[in-house]
Amino acid sequence: MRLMSDKGGLEGIVVARSELCSIDGQKGILVYRGYDIRDLAEHASYEEVVYLLLRGELPTAAELDSFRTELAEARTVSGEAAQVIDLIAADAAPMEMLRTAVSATSFDDPDKDSNDEDANQRKALRLVAKIPTLIGRYQRRREGKEPVDPDPELDYATNFLAMLRGELPAREEARTFDVAMILHADHEMNASTFTARVIASTLSDMHSAVVGAIGALKGPLHGGANEQVMKTLEAVGSVERVDEDVRRRLAEHRRIMGFGHRVYKTMDPRAAILKQHARALSEHADDSEPNWYEMSSRMEEIVLAEKGLYPNVDFYSASTYHYLGIPTDVFTTLFVASRVVGWAAHVIEQHRDNRLIRPNSEYVGPARRAYPIGSLGS
Ligand code: SDX
Repeated sequence: MRLMSDKGGLEGIVVARSELCSIDGQKGILVYRGYDIRDLAEHASYEEVVYLLLRGELPTAAELDSFRTELAEARTVSGEAAQVIDLIAADAAPMEMLRTAVSATSFDDPDKDSNDEDANQRKALRLVAKIPTLIGRYQRRREGKEPVDPDPELDYATNFLAMLRGELPAREEARTFDVAMILHADHEMNASTFTARVIASTLSDMHSAVVGAIGALKGPLHGGANEQVMKTLEAVGSVERVDEDVRRRLAEHRRIMGFGHRVYKTMDPRAAILKQHARALSEHADDSEPNWYEMSSRMEEIVLAEKGLYPNVDFYSASTYHYLGIPTDVFTTLFVASRVVGWAAHVIEQHRDNRLIRPNSEYVGPARRAYPIGSLGS
């Protein structure tokens, strides 16, 4: 039996073979099925990346056109999932809502009882298509407004922002959002993906695996960090206060959310790309607010200098999403909307060649001992 890694948390332990994603943590390289994330962010759309992760190759123009139509036609949410959102929107926090509403989308899914490849591919496509509609409906309901129906004529990013904000985004905003979705789509064996694979390995279904993964992503050490980054920036309040505030937090041994990574020991390539988009958005931002990009950039310098830590994907996604007018507590649901394709692709891989994932634990409890018959007040 192999004992767990020195620091715990399965650090450095290889738990599966996968064709989906590789990371070079020393060089800061991220690759989806052989394609560098920087190339995908520069040249691809999120729909193309969804096709690549689910089906193994980038689509031809004709394949992409047909795939986009399939996704657009699957965006509608009705029945119990819509009713669940309308019922809980006023009280449920965004990630609670999504964990619950995604579960409800299985009720009327015709493939829910099958883990076959074709059924899993159809369920993956439906989940990618419907999650933005769930989030948009929720946001409009809690604003006391009528939901904006998905528009099959719009591309994924434009449609998502239109449902969320109630108005069509500028082209640059839609492109930035699309890039953010590409960047969050998959990331090797992160905690939520591992959760999805463990659930799939019992031969449970795609929806159960995704709901479990949403629960894992919610944590502030994982996807929940993006919301915490925005709260930290708001607490610091201005560029002038960054140095003193960050040094105090570090002196108090507090974690600065959005920094550090289990695998990257240099700049997370996703953070580098989002930093460029945050800077571009900051140039047209409302002057009445602090310059969130400038604050973030200064914080990056200080944390690197003081602690030797680099920003991760959550750090610059915070200011980027804020500049796109997205409420802070919705940030992590956007991470779900993107990462669902990665989770689904890993579930498909797991079901294709499955063995139950069941590790061991090392017992460190009391030695064997006899039950004290007759001594417990009898
Ligand atoms: C994501 O795994 C993935 O791929 C995840 C993800 C994905 O795409 O799926 O990339 C998305 O989850 C990104 C990470 C988002 N989380 C945060 O930003 C939360 C803040 N970061 C940390 O909590 C931490 O860096 C982790 C959780 C991300 C990684 O933690 P590790 O590998 O378990 O490292 P550790 O906690 O053992 O820390 C090592 C040292 C410690 O110092 P010492 O106690 O040894 O002196 O670094 C310090 C830590 O205190 N440290 C930090 C820190 N992160 C690590 N100190 C201050 N602030 C931080 N953010």
